[in-house]
Amino acid sequence: MPQFDFLIIGSGIAGLSYAAKLARHFENTQEHVSIAVITKVQADETNTKYAQGGIAVVWDKSDSFEKHIHDTMDAGDGINKPDIVEIVVKEAPERIQELIDYGTRFDKEPEGNYDLAKEGGHSDHRILHFKDITGAEIERALLEEVKRHKNIEVFTHYYAVELITQHHLGETVYRYREDIKCFGAYVLNRRSGQVEKFLAKTTMLATGGIGNIYQSTTNPTIATGDGIAMAYRSKGICDNMEFIQFHPTSFYLPGKKPSFLISEAVRGFGGILKRADGSTFMELYDDRLSLAPRDIVARAIDSEMKKNGVDHVYLDVRHCDYEKFLEHFPNITQYCLDAGIDLRTEMIPVVPAQHYMCGGIRVTEWGKTNINFLYAVGECACTGLHGANRLASNSLLEAVVFGHRAYQSTLESFDKAIVPDNIPEWDDSGTTHPEENVLVTEMTRELNSIMSNYVGIVRTDRRMKRAYDRLELLHQEHEELYRQSKVSVAICELRNMISVSYLIIKMAMARRENIGLHFNADHVKS
Ligand code: FAD
Ligand code: SIN
Repeated sequence: MPQFDFLIIGSGIAGLSYAAKLARHFENTQEHVSIAVITKVQADETNTKYAQGGIAVVWDKSDSFEKHIHDTMDAGDGINKPDIVEIVVKEAPERIQELIDYGTRFDKEPEGNYDLAKEGGHSDHRILHFKDITGAEIERALLEEVKRHKNIEVFTHYYAVELITQHHLGETVYRYREDIKCFGAYVLNRRSGQVEKFLAKTTMLATGGIGNIYQSTTNPTIATGDGIAMAYRSKGICDNMEFIQFHPTSFYLPGKKPSFLISEAVRGFGGILKRADGSTFMELYDDRLSLAPRDIVARAIDSEMKKNGVDHVYLDVRHCDYEKFLEHFPNITQYCLDAGIDLRTEMIPVVPAQHYMCGGIRVTEWGKTNINFLYAVGECACTGLHGANRLASNSLLEAVVFGHRAYQSTLESFDKAIVPDNIPEWDDSGTTHPEENVLVTEMTRELNSIMSNYVGIVRTDRRMKRAYDRLELLHQEHEELYRQSKVSVAICELRNMISVSYLIIKMAMARRENIGLHFNADHVKS
């Protein structure tokens, strides 16, 4: 069975940037270490690859750290952790320079300066981007960097099922015990169908988002909250799970999963939200109009749709310079054309869709979870940066800043880790291959319906109670199926999505005030 120094679960920006740092360090010190990166499908199928708008950084002299800090806190409704916001904003230029050094391209102006875009909630132009496919460019550069290092092995089509802790040695583990240790993970080799033990001195969760618990999401199908659920089952602590970000403008095409994103940068470029008759409405909701923070814009669209009994609103770019638009947004323009929309003459039908999880596994300023030798970075982690709502383009940034900080912390602690030699093999005695896969499909549909109808942009006490009760039933049915079945990705993903949904509902029910992305219509002060 493989044993590694470092096990990294996830090959998006968080996992790869951490892996690259470790690899470079140990090559420089000429110490032999083994770094395993596992990923549930092919390596580049990540939320990272789909990122469009870009990565936020104070780059121009006219901008300032203070302004970026203020915008981040303002979007987060003030419950962000100020020390973390300051760390991320101030460490950003150095981390972005490293991405550039790995070979990431960002668009430049004809004079050679970087072309800085503007997005909702930002008071200045500070978004570095590569066309409208920034994430794909970062993912490409990081994967190439990772390939350059012989001490990294990437295992594609390997699915982490469960973290290994003392629990697997027969001990009872309580959530608030301080001496819980992680020794790696049980991992399903999707090609062989066998669950293998991946033992490691240090384990990193970089498993990304949760989008697929909802009916419509901009996230690819890999985003099923696996890391959050695995950490929670191992008694990891999670925070801020009620703060689910719905992106205001996904392309309206019912039944399409994932939903195609119309980047916020399109509104930064001049795009204006409109009703079908061409009238504007954002002036009724916020002075910043179409460029207000996402929670405000998504709620405004939701309210317009409900008031007017329509399924979507429109984003109008007909007045924009088409040639310049095409240069900045070739991917979006092509997608619209393929869908029959000529942006010179027609408006884009848009609707909010689940986009980002602001909460996640609680980590320190070094990316450490409450479980020893277990780190979490990227969308699955909750650092305190985003507070109640993430500022656009701060997610890729958070992942690189914390990838670096976790790497620094790992160097200090990994030698202290001892992996016991009596960790048992995965035990699936008494289980069989499930014959009724349709049950999993149906239960997933039911979960999507519960979360979308009762725990979406606007919540009420009654809807959340209904969601909680329905989820409880679903949980019981699924646990019974899980106990009887040999593990499969579909069964595990559903189990994880149920756990994540439970955390979201529980924390949403516990929150008494309306703040950021959590809006309970029963709690509106008159
Ligand atoms: P991901 O990139 O999602 O990587 C997760 C990895 O974990 C994958 O490799 C996956 O296979 C692996 N994994 C998960 N579970 C398991 C398991 N059980 N076993 C093995 N492997 C597993 N943010 C910005 O800052 N700027 C933007 O412009 C921007 N645009 C976006 C546009 C879209 C359409 C979307 C969906 C998101 C966007 N975001 C943007 C958000 C940002 O892209 C993500 O938050 C960020 O990329 C997450 O990176 P990550 O490394 O944490 O996770
Ligand atoms: C977008 O391009 O609108 C997405 C940006 C983000 O999620 O930060």
